[in-house]
Amino acid sequence: MYIIDNQEVEAVRRVIESGQLFRYRGGEGGETDQFEAEWAELLGARHALAVTSGTAALTCALAGMDIGPGDEVIVPAYTWMATPVAAITLGAIPVIAEVDESLTLDPADVERKITARTKAIMPVHMCGFPCDMDGLMAVAAEHGLVVLEDACQADGGSYKGKRLGAIGTAGANSFNFFKIITCGEGGAVVTNDTAVYQKALVYHDLGCAFRAHAGDVETPMFIGSNYRMNEILSAILRVQLSRLDGILDTLRAEKRMLMGELSGVSAFSFNPIHDPAGDCATTLGLLFDTETEARRFIDGMKAEGMTVASPIDSGIHVYSNWTPVLEKRGAHHPARDPFKLCGYDVEYSKDMCPDTLAYLKRTVYLGTAINRSGDDLRGLIQTVKKVAGR
Ligand SMILES: Cc1ncc(COP(=O)(O)O)c(C=O)c1O
Repeated sequence: MYIIDNQEVEAVRRVIESGQLFRYRGGEGGETDQFEAEWAELLGARHALAVTSGTAALTCALAGMDIGPGDEVIVPAYTWMATPVAAITLGAIPVIAEVDESLTLDPADVERKITARTKAIMPVHMCGFPCDMDGLMAVAAEHGLVVLEDACQADGGSYKGKRLGAIGTAGANSFNFFKIITCGEGGAVVTNDTAVYQKALVYHDLGCAFRAHAGDVETPMFIGSNYRMNEILSAILRVQLSRLDGILDTLRAEKRMLMGELSGVSAFSFNPIHDPAGDCATTLGLLFDTETEARRFIDGMKAEGMTVASPIDSGIHVYSNWTPVLEKRGAHHPARDPFKLCGYDVEYSKDMCPDTLAYLKRTVYLGTAINRSGDDLRGLIQTVKKVAGR
């Protein structure tokens, strides 16, 4: 969470006083509908669907894209487990591919991992770093694949002038507590494809057939679930959305300052960014030549009283720690488990993406902040220079 204050309190008060907390009970045209219209406009997409989490957004989007049993979905080896889990939830098999030095999905490895079963690619804009969308979209086009951008860590970021999430067939954002804008827990699907939107709409609300918009839905109604957003969280998100570009401007200014000050340091380079102007700038990646040098830097910073970390230590975001995936326990019940139903032996191992592990181990993250004082920023820069110069 970056900013939350009385404006959000007032928005919540407004909804509670209205007594209208549910989006489909005469609440049509209410906070959630308005948030969806505003989010779609901000991202430059035809449709937005608010849902209860980023995981729900990924799952509903994949359902909208007809992903299911028999399909393989290529995911990066560095992401939160929600990315592969969304595919598994729908009966598909995630295929884990390498990231490159940018720590985002490597189009060359995606191409190597394509099989006759591959149906989709899920680029993940980790830490707000935009993926190589030109490269990935080209691979997708050549092989007739759909693309779901996981922009959960990249709310509002862009690539070559287009907002992340609105470039692929569909995109997913998260608004959980740790994201750039937040309502505690929440998410959204965006897409320009009306058929994808309508299927996601049906999947996200098992009561879709009974809503006022049911007559507009051209896809035959099928069994969905409940990932509906509520009016309180949407009201918070509408305030958060109005803050988004301001937050990104502040983070980008700090990151530019850090990069300008640290560019002469020979101990490290910066992890390359596919579009620096669109980077959300939550994180600066320092890329060392070896893991040992990265470790020495982390220890040196600690000795100076400053905590920095390597993404290899983030644990949950590294594929080698996705135990339920690697051990192929794909459902609560064996008869629903895609790994048992797919008819072939899916091969995963902890060392299957050695390049990813090497890049993560060689990288150290410096986080940007929205309200750091000039003194604190100068102190950080001085300490980085001092430790790196040893
Ligand atoms: C890359 C990525 N994808 C998906 C998600 C899932 O989002 P949520 O926690 O809102 O379900 C997250 C959340 O941390 C994430 O970081």
